[in-house]
Amino acid sequence: MALKLNPITFQSRKYTPFSLPPMASLRSPKFVVASVLNSGPKEVENVKKPFSPPLEVHVQVTHSMPPQKIELFKNLEDWAEQNILVHLKPVEKCWQPQDFLPDPASEGFHDQDPRTENSPYLGFIYTSFQERATFISHGNTARHAKEHGDIKLAQICGTIASDEKRHETAYTKIVEKLFEIDPDGTILALADMMKKKISMPAHLMYDGRDNNLFEHFSAVTQRLGVYTAKDYADILEFLVGRWKVEELTGLSGEGRKAQDYVCGLTPRNQTAGGKIAKQGQTNTGHAI
Ligand SMILES: [Fe+2]
Repeated sequence: MALKLNPITFQSRKYTPFSLPPMASLRSPKFVVASVLNSGPKEVENVKKPFSPPLEVHVQVTHSMPPQKIELFKNLEDWAEQNILVHLKPVEKCWQPQDFLPDPASEGFHDQDPRTENSPYLGFIYTSFQERATFISHGNTARHAKEHGDIKLAQICGTIASDEKRHETAYTKIVEKLFEIDPDGTILALADMMKKKISMPAHLMYDGRDNNLFEHFSAVTQRLGVYTAKDYADILEFLVGRWKVEELTGLSGEGRKAQDYVCGLTPRNQTAGGKIAKQGQTNTGHAI
């Protein structure tokens, strides 16, 4: 079966590991962790209840793809079948995110918009970042669990971390390919995403009691070293290197500006306490 890489297909393959918006598959761990932190079976049951975010959410912007961009993604289908499907595990061997998610039909569920604006470029950049962040945070959580003697939890987090690593590999490969076939469009999308900051939907997590749950959760992850502002900056540096952003050539004037902007955000181009670290401070924990 061919892997469809056109935007229409993205919309319909909700729960596969590499699907795009509405991004149901990207949200699962956040709610589970939020509930576990507040512990007790009562709170875990809340996962299944309709989700009601306590915070105001922004208006979602969407774009339609011009025909040449749709064609570009259609032409990637054979490449994706050869290069991306190899990272899939058999579905029967995988836990399914929907087993742990709030009902997608519930009120407020789709308000958790990661600002990918219906664009596959933004979507694949966002997921590249997010999968690496969850790989790091679950790996760190596994380490903590092991240090404190909870071997089973360490194994669970280790399993999730390795899944996240596979996802990261797949998404970063796709963005690498996009840089190859459409460097201008991709660098503009990367700059756009970084300006918006990689804000992940966990900022809307809610246990029914604590209106500042995310802030409290984020402070704990930062303090314990599970996911920190430095991790955020390091992920950007890693991806910029992985996609060879500094070496891109043949860009338009706008593309070169976007390239300069993105490269200027990386830690090695920043002084200590620079912009990206500050950005990270407001985003730590979002990916967890
Ligand atoms: Fe993932």
